[in-house]
Amino acid sequence: MSEDDAAPTGVPCAPGRLPLLGHLVPLLTRPLPFLQSLADHGPVVRIHLWRKPVHVLTDPELVHRLLVKDAAKTEKGFVFDKARGLLGNGLFTSEGAFHLRQRRLVQPAFHRDSIRRYATLAARVAAAAVSRWEPGRAAPIEPRMHDLARDIVVEALFATHLSRDQKNGIDRAVPVVLTGFVQRALYPSPLLEKLPVPANRRFDAAVRGLRTVVDEIVAQAAGLHQGPDDSLLSLLLATRDEETGLPMAPAQVRDEAVSLLLAGTETTATTLAWLFHELAQHQDLQDELSEEVRAIAADGAVSMGDLPRLERTGHAISETLRLHTPNWILMRRAVAPLHYGGVLLPPGAEVLFSPTALHRSPQLHADPLRFDPDRWRRPADRAPARLFIPFGAGHHKCVGESFAWTEMLVIAAAVLARLRLRPATATPVRENATAATVRPRGPLLIAEPR
Ligand code: HEM
Repeated sequence: MSEDDAAPTGVPCAPGRLPLLGHLVPLLTRPLPFLQSLADHGPVVRIHLWRKPVHVLTDPELVHRLLVKDAAKTEKGFVFDKARGLLGNGLFTSEGAFHLRQRRLVQPAFHRDSIRRYATLAARVAAAAVSRWEPGRAAPIEPRMHDLARDIVVEALFATHLSRDQKNGIDRAVPVVLTGFVQRALYPSPLLEKLPVPANRRFDAAVRGLRTVVDEIVAQAAGLHQGPDDSLLSLLLATRDEETGLPMAPAQVRDEAVSLLLAGTETTATTLAWLFHELAQHQDLQDELSEEVRAIAADGAVSMGDLPRLERTGHAISETLRLHTPNWILMRRAVAPLHYGGVLLPPGAEVLFSPTALHRSPQLHADPLRFDPDRWRRPADRAPARLFIPFGAGHHKCVGESFAWTEMLVIAAAVLARLRLRPATATPVRENATAATVRPRGPLLIAEPR
């Protein structure tokens, strides 16, 4: 039976399918408008990646059901099958009973006391980075946010265990791995992965490099007998399984560390880059947020206790997560029949949805393409909380959500208290959704001291 024959009947197929490529052209060339357009064809719409049928949910209530109520009837899906082989079986890629057990072990590393320490760390790293920005020089904000987010996650994960070479190894590998694993899942045949073309060689080397560096660091940390430090890695090494009392195996600690590194850098970095692009376009709002921060800490060095008072800054971040949701596409695979929108998706059906498309739906949010942090003061202008899913929902919901919120507020405060950002040109910023997240492409921003 061909993959085509395996597609459930009764699900409308999106227009524009090409004989061999399926819907790859619109998905790769204009992914966000394409995914958004699917809502016009029904709550469940079929697209084809090559010949593989994939079912797109366009109704937010169905997405909520998939992630929460029907979580036990799903696994993570074809991109993660691929990612598991390449990146290991950490939280980001694992599923089922193993995932639940690991999640219980990892979660304490994200409890309040730990987050408080990460807030102090983030404030220190952000202050040092901001003081190095050259005033008046036009520069892209995205790489700056990447460096910052990576430095904070790396330091929170590994504390002082990192040599300059190890840090460089991580820097080189992470961006290549993050773009490459999604691309590989779209290859029509696994044989293509074996071709000795530069993209494959670069990707394989990056995966090997990342695993080697993280292995080294885990072995180093496990061998230290100077007492535990406050790093996430120490917490992972110190955890004991409630039932067996055994520590986590070193290879598993490595997989968890890789998972946290990959899931925790690009997402936060792109959100902050979009936030600063938006604030550069909205100078009055930027001034308002700057005043909010400086009323709490003149130099922008806020602590965990200050964060609830950064209410307007929080609204701006929520609005950024809505309009520029980092994870523009998420997926699951049915392991039991799912009855959605009048059709039956049988076990094995691949199911996909776009949080970005849902967050931009006019049915859920008034004037959805407008950047309007004030809507977070007007519940009528936005979707109910359970349909706002930048961090996902259900038992795969982002384990780093509080970490991310803390980090983003601390970095925003460090920048806004000291600098005014403005666009270097009038060219509008464009969306680049080729990797795991939607990145802003150009224009440059100029930072000036306040
Ligand atoms: C703005 C920042 C972030 C956003 C928008 C975000 C978003 C998400 C989303 C949507 C998921 C669910 C994926 C799914 O259901 O398939 C997820 C899972 C995950 N995130 Fe985040 N994330 C962010 C930051 C972080 C940070 C800072 C860390 C760690 C330091 C992290 C670690 C993880 C991990 C390990 C998972 C897998 C959880 C599981 O399956 O149990 N994330 N994230």
